[in-house]
Amino acid sequence: VCICALLERQYDVRLAGVATEDRPAGRVPLSELNTDLETLAEFGGGVAGITRVAWSDALDSANRWLMHRGRGVGLDVSTDPAGNVFVGRPGSGTQGVLLGSHVDTVPNGGRYDGALGVLGALHAMRALGDDVAKRAGRIAVAAFMDEEGTRFGTDLFGSRAFVGDDLTELAGRVDREGVTLTEAMAERGYAFAELGGAAAVTEYGCYLELHIEQGPVLEEAGADVGIVTAIVGLLGLQVEMTGEANHAGTTPMHLRRDALAGGARAIGELRDLALAEAGITANVGTILVEPGGKNVVPGVCRFTVDVRAANPEAFAQLDHRVRTILLRIAGEEGLTVNVEELYRLEPLTFDAGLVDVVEASAMDETTACMRLPSGAGHDAMVVGRHIPTAMVFVPSRGGISHSPFEYTEPAHCDLGARVLARTIGRVLA
Ligand code: GLV
Ligand code: MN
Ligand code: MN
Repeated sequence: VCICALLERQYDVRLAGVATEDRPAGRVPLSELNTDLETLAEFGGGVAGITRVAWSDALDSANRWLMHRGRGVGLDVSTDPAGNVFVGRPGSGTQGVLLGSHVDTVPNGGRYDGALGVLGALHAMRALGDDVAKRAGRIAVAAFMDEEGTRFGTDLFGSRAFVGDDLTELAGRVDREGVTLTEAMAERGYAFAELGGAAAVTEYGCYLELHIEQGPVLEEAGADVGIVTAIVGLLGLQVEMTGEANHAGTTPMHLRRDALAGGARAIGELRDLALAEAGITANVGTILVEPGGKNVVPGVCRFTVDVRAANPEAFAQLDHRVRTILLRIAGEEGLTVNVEELYRLEPLTFDAGLVDVVEASAMDETTACMRLPSGAGHDAMVVGRHIPTAMVFVPSRGGISHSPFEYTEPAHCDLGARVLARTIGRVLA
């Protein structure tokens, strides 16, 4: 009771029947799911983790393997104009069940983020009884393209195309090598102009996503399953501060217009902003300095800013607050600043009815489950604006994610897939 009360205060979550003494670990049979997770990890896998960014060879090979695996278990496979992969059973009508997640990764990522949702759904679908499967009509698992947005800052690209968002403004986005998104897609045989053809959310009646928690809450509570109630809003910005490249030894300190000094101050102040207020996170995850010489005053500093808030009012203010900080620092450092919005995804509260169904399904498997919000973005936050949506979380060891050290116990992976299967069964009952 004590740890539950603490966690409820710290994370603003509601704990439902968390039985810390009586965990079902050990009674969960392992399935082919874990072997499949290992196989998938080989695509783009290296000593430092797994890297499968959008439109890369590694992601393409992973998608091909996924389709091969799907065909191997007797399911239909298809792709859409956004590069999303679907594995499932076709059917008619508009009330199909969509499951899904993503197969792309961050640089040097782990083997569970996204992969568990796709492969767990594949096995959940296989586990459905024939009667349930027939009632489902159309049922599929989607491996959405470019959830992470690593290469072009185009987070949740595939799911946004799937719900019919207008993505026209992304056509000219460039990666670090100067390749545009349009060119990267063309290299894989996709035409940016045909993205509109990916809009298909109306064919489905609900969406369910299994995912690792990517945080410490479940593990600390001794919970085996999380029932996700909501997702934070995400705002991504590309910032460029420009000063003047000059000689590092001859330019007096007070006359320098050092772009990196401005960037460094911004990093510190954004961190302070988020530290001072519960419910806000801020991250500068990439930085590039030009011309990049040890004896040259930095003339240009480019960096990304990712800020998040769960509360809609707090989220609405983030853009202005960040820009105010950047402009003030630029003014004080004699720099110019240019800010480009990369992505903006509003916070989302999941469908209350479907969340209840997930909770009941989780409780069929274990009493060690709890409700919690997600601090990570997911395709569910895009699809969930159009059809009833809910998510199942399983614990991440040590709360580590977006890292090669990401780990979720095989028994928990399996349990997540079973909760998903039970949820589908209830939805179709
Ligand atoms: C997706 O993984 C995100 O939360 O950035
Ligand atoms: Mn991720
Ligand atoms: Mn993910």
